[in-house]
Amino acid sequence: MKLILSCSICIALIAALAGCKQQAIADNKQLPIDSLIALVNHLKPGLGEFMLQIKYHHDSLGAAIAKKDYDRAAYEIDEIKETAERIAQLNIANDKLTKPFSNFYDKYLQEPLQILAGAASKKDDAALKTNFISLTNNCNSCHHENNMAFMKITP
Ligand code: HEC
Repeated sequence: MKLILSCSICIALIAALAGCKQQAIADNKQLPIDSLIALVNHLKPGLGEFMLQIKYHHDSLGAAIAKKDYDRAAYEIDEIKETAERIAQLNIANDKLTKPFSNFYDKYLQEPLQILAGAASKKDDAALKTNFISLTNNCNSCHHENNMAFMKITP
């Protein structure tokens, strides 16, 4: 009886110790994971940096449309799309954004970019011109909706 009792105390002790050890290992791993997450977040470009890229491609698109350079226009449309998709994929947050960027991508950018891509491939000047204006208006609507009304983009 004594043996059984001390044995079960022993087992309980071992189990408790094992639990402790497991906890220590888990904590040990969590620390580097947390610091890796912090590092990744630190290395992500900010929304403003992506916006500067988008602005560059937006302006180059305007110039390409004016020169009827359809290949360049198609390229710039694609670059705007890729940059905006990266903002959404990386889940770039910002103190001015009222919702995740992907909501605004769907609302303001996806459709005009798709129409512009079609217009560039058809070399449709009129559609390129009108939809470029719609795109610029949408940039400004999103700025308005996200505490950046003063950031006015011109076609
Ligand atoms: C989410 C909606 C949204 C859309 C769509 C959007 N922007 Fe922005 N934009 C922002 C926000 C928010 C900021 C402020 C970023 C910051 O705080 O650094 C910004 C900032 C900017 C800036 C200033 C960047 C800087 O660091 O000086 C430019 C330029 C800009 N946007 C251009 C554009 C253009 C061009 C388009 C359209 C093709 C566009 N944006 C579409 C939300 C948007």
